[in-house]
Amino acid sequence: MSKCKILVIFLISVLLAVSACQNSTVDNNRATVNSNQTSTASKEIPNRKWWKEAVVYQIYPRSFKDTNGDGVGDLRGIIEKLDYIKSLGIDVVWLNPIFASPNDDMGYDVSDYQAIMKEFGTMEDFDELLKGMHERKIKVVLDLVANHSSDEHRWFQESRKSRDNPYRDYYHWWPAEKGKPAARRSFFDVEGDAWQYDAPSNSYYLHIFSDKQPDLNWENPKVRQEMYSMIKFWFDKGVDGFRMDVIPFISKDTSFPEMPAEMNGDWGKFYRSGPRLHEYIQEMNREVLSKYDIMTVGEIGATPEEAHLFVDEDRNELNMLYHFEGVDFGYVPGGKKMIDPKGWSLVKFKEIYSKWSDNFEQKGWGTIYLGNHDQPRMVTRWGNDAPEFRELSSKMLSTFLMTMRATPYYYFGDELAMNNIKFERIEDYKDIESINWYKGIEKEGGDLKSFMESQKIAARDNGRTPFQWDNTTNGGFTTGTPWLKVNPNHETVNVTAQEKDQNSPLNYFRKLTSLRKAEPVLVYGKYTLIDKENENVYAYTRELNGKKLLILLNFKAVESSVNSGFDLAKSKVLLGNYPTPSLDGKLKPYEAVVLELTN
Ligand code: GLC
Ligand code: CA
Repeated sequence: MSKCKILVIFLISVLLAVSACQNSTVDNNRATVNSNQTSTASKEIPNRKWWKEAVVYQIYPRSFKDTNGDGVGDLRGIIEKLDYIKSLGIDVVWLNPIFASPNDDMGYDVSDYQAIMKEFGTMEDFDELLKGMHERKIKVVLDLVANHSSDEHRWFQESRKSRDNPYRDYYHWWPAEKGKPAARRSFFDVEGDAWQYDAPSNSYYLHIFSDKQPDLNWENPKVRQEMYSMIKFWFDKGVDGFRMDVIPFISKDTSFPEMPAEMNGDWGKFYRSGPRLHEYIQEMNREVLSKYDIMTVGEIGATPEEAHLFVDEDRNELNMLYHFEGVDFGYVPGGKKMIDPKGWSLVKFKEIYSKWSDNFEQKGWGTIYLGNHDQPRMVTRWGNDAPEFRELSSKMLSTFLMTMRATPYYYFGDELAMNNIKFERIEDYKDIESINWYKGIEKEGGDLKSFMESQKIAARDNGRTPFQWDNTTNGGFTTGTPWLKVNPNHETVNVTAQEKDQNSPLNYFRKLTSLRKAEPVLVYGKYTLIDKENENVYAYTRELNGKKLLILLNFKAVESSVNSGFDLAKSKVLLGNYPTPSLDGKLKPYEAVVLELTN
């Protein structure tokens, strides 16, 4: 063989190797720790990461699929539906807490961090689930509930026994003989009081959430070590990351002073600005997170500036966070998710999402979501769930989520355009938040009627109703009595029906995930908002290495014009939610279209 031939063969193999590497941006091989791309593509796109390119699909296990007829979703239900999950084209599954729990707050009250909740199954089930996901190249992210445990956790059971118990300092106690400590607010307590008196040791304990969720004392190095070894336990099993529940609350000024005046009564901000917060997250990063190729996302109600402290790479803390500015928009300030009767303006909505997108243009990385287990269904809240617009507006919102410059967190059921159940009676709610807010308003003699009306739009249980598999009783979710009512529209809104329909929201979502996979410009491309003052249409371009996409989203139920400044007739349609997309600058009700600009 001539030297020249050998050289040609060598070059071809290099090219093949490079392209194989490009094709596996989201791979599950743990051997490739910190598998930054080394291909040519990475030279064009700096700082590629699998978790930036991933679409995260959130499953609320309690409501996904019940396999033993007790009315509660379980791990075997997820195992049964692995191929369905794979068919969505998603890369990561985030599971809400699956750990042992008395379920005062549906799993966010953990009684054993290294055991599986009885109703959900066993550790063997979990291992099988994880294996099944990895075989399908899907990563699994769990929920880290580090700020508090259940009061039924062994640590708390010990801690409350006496003041000299070895576990005493695992929680925050205040001796009653000193009087009542400075006020701390609780999210779920009927009276809003985060201090609970406990007779055995004549002391108060702190619970920022329910009285069955005592706050752990992170000042105690033993607590931190317990947490790190627990995280390590799951990573060593092969878990691919954690979503960190209310993580900025872990650090507290344990002298418990009055809230400083400069906080202007903003107790959320006061609680999340703990003096040693970043020290703890950095320690966690150093001791465990940095040792694995995993992803982390914090639940952090931060300002854009604060956000950088958590997610900039040189901070060595977390990969991403999700903020609340978007989802809290449209509620009247005051905390009980009362709907603003004035409605919400799209111009302001665009401003919020653009600000957050721009925030991470140079440093850090963002997330985008409209639904999760703490939110109502996105189509009811941000689209239109009237029968004629439910599917269209839901597809439009999915298009938004999948074309922004951030990692999308997509909530299970949104691919079917599931909508709010809108309970009439408080007895139908199972969520401690709705129930205790109701009791609180009742006690104060407040306006229960408007609260119940707002809950039809805002309550968390709207997003927690069981998944709708088919048109049989209980939507195929359970053969028993579901723990939370199934939306009666499962007769028409369900997987079986949507599989058969090429234009269903389900099949549209699959097109969106494959489009995002095919077009790195949708992940990394520069985001530019256009026609900013347009009150009906959200329009933006995404641009990368000479490729330019235009996304047009009509957020209203009426035909709406957009002034994009481009000659749309010359563009190529990549996807749209109408059979014939409008290219004349006028969008049909809730129309969404993704175009490639050629001019
Ligand atoms: C987070 C969870 C929410 C839970 C709360 C307390 O906000 O997402 O569901 O109720 O923390 O753990
Ligand atoms: Ca079950």
